[in-house]
Amino acid sequence: MLEKLEQIKLDALAAMDKITDQESLLVWRATYTGKKSALMDIFNQMRELSKEERPLVGKRANEVRQDLEKRYEEKQSEIKKELLKESLQSEILDVTLPGRNLSHGRLHPTTQTLRRIYKIFAEMGFQVYRSREVETDDFNFTHLNMPQHHPARDMWDTFYTNTEGVILRTHTSPGQIHAMKEYFPEPIRVILPGMCYRYEQVSTRSEMQFTQVEGLAVGHDITFGDLKGTLSDFARRLFDADVRTRFRASHFPFTEPSAEMDVECFVCNGDGCSVCKQTGWLEILGSGMVHPNVLRAGGYDPEVYSGFAFGMGPERLTMLLHRIGDIRNFWRNDMRFLEQF
Ligand code: DAH
Repeated sequence: MLEKLEQIKLDALAAMDKITDQESLLVWRATYTGKKSALMDIFNQMRELSKEERPLVGKRANEVRQDLEKRYEEKQSEIKKELLKESLQSEILDVTLPGRNLSHGRLHPTTQTLRRIYKIFAEMGFQVYRSREVETDDFNFTHLNMPQHHPARDMWDTFYTNTEGVILRTHTSPGQIHAMKEYFPEPIRVILPGMCYRYEQVSTRSEMQFTQVEGLAVGHDITFGDLKGTLSDFARRLFDADVRTRFRASHFPFTEPSAEMDVECFVCNGDGCSVCKQTGWLEILGSGMVHPNVLRAGGYDPEVYSGFAFGMGPERLTMLLHRIGDIRNFWRNDMRFLEQF
């Protein structure tokens, strides 16, 4: 028995020397230490041994088993090391290769214009005031000096909702009332950017959804001169340092007097072209002195306070700045258009 044990050990170790991979290692383990191995036979045959022989054989058999198990563990870690070495070589990375460029996203052209507008007004002390897109009929019209059934409401084709009196704002002007209610009795200098909605036939010049930037200044002794100075300066900063501007009398229910501002056409320098429809001028915004009823609706006494307001369309400004012919491009998400800005 003892000689047999030595032979088993020698055979097993000799077989182990040839092993180089995980699979044959598992086969080896089954063959030399598994249930049906010669070594296990010896354990099974112990009962048949004499009392003297049994402890000797038992002790040696356990030693052989431990040796084989130890050898198995060693081999296992050798193989693992070898595998790691191989994978480090075969999956070698050339860290000096130039990387793949990430494609840069960019801001939507309207957003770019909006940010320029924010910056210009920020330099003049105007803060951005955010106001809701879902409005009440009262804020969108009534508080802006257009009572129920007033014909001026027809100037805006409105999206109504199933809830009585709740609409999508047709302009950013209702934000003026929210700002006044919040700031009273402080003086106000804000711009109110945001999305507006109109139930309109979509065309090259009009969309159902578009942005506006409203402006509002309220305080003591604010005059039409302040309005003209602020807006002319804005035009010079947005377009050109010596662009000419003009104010034409107009009508809005929420301002009195009201005016529209034109800038000299920067395509033809006022000579007349297709962009300015041969007039030499481009209309860019509506404005006026805040109507006393609107000041009152916001909580400001028109005997004590005065103010001016204006509203412009960043899509229209972007179209002028980049000579874009079709406003529908802004919502088409066509990369060929967007990548140009
Ligand atoms: N809310 C007007 C519109 O959507 C634009 C406007 C005109 C705003 C004159 C004003 C303003 O604040 O004073 O057509």
